[in-house]
Amino acid sequence: MSAPIRKAVFPVAGLGTRFLPATKAMPKEMLTVVDRPLIQYAVDEAREAGIEHFIFVTGRNKAVIEDHFDVQYELEATLSGRGKNEALALLAKDLPKPGSTSFTRQQVPLGLGHAVWCARELVGNEPFAVLLPDMVMKGEPSCLRQMVEAYNETGGNVLAVSECDPAETNQYGVVGIGAELSNAAFRINAMVEKPKPEVAPSNLYINGRYILQPQIFDLLSKQERGAGNEIQLTDAMLKLMEKQYFYGCRFDGEVYDCGNKVGFLAANVAFALERADIAAEFRPELDRLLARQG
Ligand code: UTP
Repeated sequence: MSAPIRKAVFPVAGLGTRFLPATKAMPKEMLTVVDRPLIQYAVDEAREAGIEHFIFVTGRNKAVIEDHFDVQYELEATLSGRGKNEALALLAKDLPKPGSTSFTRQQVPLGLGHAVWCARELVGNEPFAVLLPDMVMKGEPSCLRQMVEAYNETGGNVLAVSECDPAETNQYGVVGIGAELSNAAFRINAMVEKPKPEVAPSNLYINGRYILQPQIFDLLSKQERGAGNEIQLTDAMLKLMEKQYFYGCRFDGEVYDCGNKVGFLAANVAFALERADIAAEFRPELDRLLARQG
């Protein structure tokens, strides 16, 4: 049986330049979809998948993420004094168990691969998950849970994939489809960064969720620079693929790329329309705005 996935790494040290000026003093991962920060969605997803240890790779200006996952004593005392029990219960529900979070710093944002490598001591010698919090997933069960279910059958490394417009493969990391397995998974036989549509091995892209074996750290430790002069996770995965199996898990759900403005706005609308406490009021507002655009 494959070793269980107990730990998840959240790389949150990027500069978020596409969201300036919002991200000048505030981390991108604290931007909210409706009323929950992006990072909270990723942590909830990991929790649903059975993750026990949450590892955040942070950077400068990111201390507020650590505060978000801590008790806010004054706030809670005030809410309690005012009898705001619903708000108190909400805060309690979102709080990770004491001792289940770790924070380390990526001192210089040298790329996603480097950020993951910064978590090596906290992960140790066991398989682990990586979740990019700006990719917000909407699915039941959660994306990572679907992957863990696939992993329990396949072992190895598992990447969640989603379909993109075949004309837009040049915006994504795209995988090649090898042998199909019994579940939604398949053997990955190629991984190409941003291929032109005419040479893309498929239209399935890596959507920001990974289950990786710890040997990835040996490859990342070589610190080789790739595209954009950054230490790329994809480069290390390609090397690992020469020695270990990689599987694709077709995510049954929707992906919102909240690292770009349109994806972020779409996520806000989609999640608001599904919120029992907001949807009835929000829908006519949205209709009115759309009608005004003609
Ligand atoms: P992005 O590619 O979206 O980069 O990173 P970014 O810096 O956050 O945003 P832009 O492109 O400047 O607007 C994807 C994820 O990887 C993390 C980011 O925090 C984000 O969660 N990341 C990226 C790091 O932790 N360190 C890095 O060096 C780069």
